[in-house]
Amino acid sequence: MAETNKTATLLLDNKKIELPIYAPTAGPEVIDIRKLYAQGDVFTYDPGFTSTASCDSTITYIDGDKGELLYRGYPIEQLADQSHFLEVCYLLLYGELPDATQIEEFETRVTRHTMVHEQMHNFFRGFRRDAHPMATMVGVVGAMSAFYHDSTDISDPWQREVAAIRMIAKMPTIAAMAYKYSIGQPFVYPRNDLDYASNFLNMCFSVPAEPYKIEPALAKAMDRIFMLHADHEQNASTSTVRLAGSSGANPFACIAAGIACLWGPAHGGANQACLEMLREIGTVDRIPEFIARAKDKNDPFRLMGFGHRVYKNFDPRAKVMKESADEVLELLGIHDNETLKVAKELEKIALEDEYFVSKKLYPNVDFYSGIILEAMGFPTSMFTPIFALSRTVGWISQWKEMIADQHQKIGRPRQLYVGAPRRDYVDVAKR
Ligand code: ACO
Repeated sequence: MAETNKTATLLLDNKKIELPIYAPTAGPEVIDIRKLYAQGDVFTYDPGFTSTASCDSTITYIDGDKGELLYRGYPIEQLADQSHFLEVCYLLLYGELPDATQIEEFETRVTRHTMVHEQMHNFFRGFRRDAHPMATMVGVVGAMSAFYHDSTDISDPWQREVAAIRMIAKMPTIAAMAYKYSIGQPFVYPRNDLDYASNFLNMCFSVPAEPYKIEPALAKAMDRIFMLHADHEQNASTSTVRLAGSSGANPFACIAAGIACLWGPAHGGANQACLEMLREIGTVDRIPEFIARAKDKNDPFRLMGFGHRVYKNFDPRAKVMKESADEVLELLGIHDNETLKVAKELEKIALEDEYFVSKKLYPNVDFYSGIILEAMGFPTSMFTPIFALSRTVGWISQWKEMIADQHQKIGRPRQLYVGAPRRDYVDVAKR
């Protein structure tokens, strides 16, 4: 964190408080308010952290006005075009692109950790078959701390490293198992001769009864989905992982907390909610009715897959995802699908509508990812688990960064208390 010689002056009841200002490598300057309470006996109020930097980080940068997303400085468009998911994982975890030897070693390490403890199969069987795969994932990932004791000591850098590799390697296996379990099919073991994305597709779609051919173009699209979702700075689930980790909780428990947060429809659950909304709209002629509902202040309905807390121009991931969606649909020969027609028309109408234009509400990454995943054959309930497996590397990179951060403290926000002031207990007979 680079100090500047600038300060911000706060005048509080005629008392002047000087607050240091820091310069980031990109983005707005940051006012350090850590001593504000000690010096001024006041808190700041910022529900939803809309103006608050909760940490310093070197991992991901977003410029919401420009529609820019950088992983360790590299633009997402370049990575999506020229890199692949495991290389992006290396970049996020270690800060630099790997050379040929480093990536080979990293891929070998990840590949050698893809199986889960055999006892975990029994753990899965404790869930109801109709459980949402995200419910299963929250439980199973949290339970990893019960299966992998040898990588839960967060003070040991080697154990932290092993936990990171295990999580990246096993998450596709766990997500695929959650899916197979929900449809009553046997679990498919990982195959180490396949690349990361192909292995995931194989674990989801192959059955012991017949061979399954992995279409390379679909594996590439899958890999791209993983890359586009890999990290997104201090979003809700990442902040949850950091907050959980700030108490010293083990990494498996922290990632389970992140998965729970991601599940919500305002965050990772939006891809499922978006496709369900497109189906509910059903036909192009019903779009105006839903647009009107989205604009109605008295109706809680929102257009799922539109809007973003940070991107107020466009979501750069959505651009790449749209291209991928077109490629996948072309490859699979899907042209006349009603959901797709609704999606295309909705996108067109919303992009021209004054309400959406003035509020800078653009289609986000989830608008297009659901379309691709459905075309690939995934049920909507698997959309968010796929997001979770992609985001795991981001969560674990941010968690590792936090543990190594000398400024790290247990996360403990303050509040603006507006409840009853102190009052005396009244006996039940007198109330
Ligand atoms: N449909 C209709 N109106 C919307 C939408 C939407 N999708 N999103 C925002 N608005 C409106 C709000 O009603 C609000 O209007 P107002 O100023 O008249 O009160 C204004 O736009 C600003 O919205 P906020 O909710 O204040 O913006 P915030 O940054 O808090 O929310 C969020 C961002 C949660 C993503 C929101 O846009 C939303 O709910 N979108 C739909 C869900 C979605 O697609 N989530 C995925 C996010 S991407 C991701 O997690 C990968």
